[in-house]
Amino acid sequence: MTADLDRARELLARAERVVVFTGAGVSAESGVPTFRGPGGLWKTFRPDQLATPEAFARDPRLVWEWYGWRREVLAACRPNLAHVAIARWMLQRGGATLVTQNVDDLHERGAVEAALGLARQGCLRGAAAGVGCPGGGEADEAARRAAAFAAAESVAPIRLHGSIFHARCTRCGARREHRGRVDASNEADLPRCACGGLLRPDVVWFGEALPEGALRAAFGAAASAGACLVIGTAGAVHPAAGLVDETAGAGGRVVVVDPGETAYDGMADVRLWGAAGEVVPGILRDA
Ligand code: OAD
Repeated sequence: MTADLDRARELLARAERVVVFTGAGVSAESGVPTFRGPGGLWKTFRPDQLATPEAFARDPRLVWEWYGWRREVLAACRPNLAHVAIARWMLQRGGATLVTQNVDDLHERGAVEAALGLARQGCLRGAAAGVGCPGGGEADEAARRAAAFAAAESVAPIRLHGSIFHARCTRCGARREHRGRVDASNEADLPRCACGGLLRPDVVWFGEALPEGALRAAFGAAASAGACLVIGTAGAVHPAAGLVDETAGAGGRVVVVDPGETAYDGMADVRLWGAAGEVVPGILRDA
């Protein structure tokens, strides 16, 4: 494992641009269930009843009830060592793009944690260089927090499957952050837009297209990356899963971190079998 860790570190250090591609596994140690494999959501729940536009048209109350439950689970979770290590490394290194299939907000929260840590050490730099980090111990906490939040935004993920904490109007298409508790006991009480239209979770469901801008940005970054670090995704859902082929097809290197088998095992230059929270900090430490 140590030799593989070293090789992974070396491959990433050599690449001018890196794409970090994450799936449900990166959040597993935070207590977020994955989709496939033991304890996976799709073992207990049927996607055709909960995660398709037809399911929402048929029974919006049931769909909101399920998403409301998942939001409550997520609100109680905290970013784990992998989320924080990825963000810290991105902030220090620059030239890295994070692409996630996850609809949770743990990358963003991990980035705030990482940026606050760096700000307290007086060393927010790299991609965050322009945000004006107050250095040393004299800077006050409010200024440090402002700098850290700005820096965290600079490493926000490209989201291929949307966000569970955003909603979209089924009538006018308006999108907005939506974090409040959802009362799904009656259809009449479901969340509504200012225009009166029914809101839906702003996530990508089966049979739906991925957001065009996100897809273009992610695949563009992958095609020009010298390395792709893949963490915690089985690679079963396309088109997102094809991201890694963009990097590999253009001659870039592939590093895969996952305790289980993935679709990328055959193409990985370095394959690290283990949990994200245990392996990722070792790869990205002091890079
Ligand atoms: P999956 O559930 O298909 O795969 C999760 C991966 O995480 C598996 O390869 C596990 O072995 C791995 N894993 C489990 N615990 C881990 C840990 N502690 N550290 C690292 N890896 C771990 O989830 P995704 O590949 O993300 O789509 O699924 C892709 C898409 O399918 C999701 O975005 C979702 C789902 O349907 C939508 O919601 C549109």
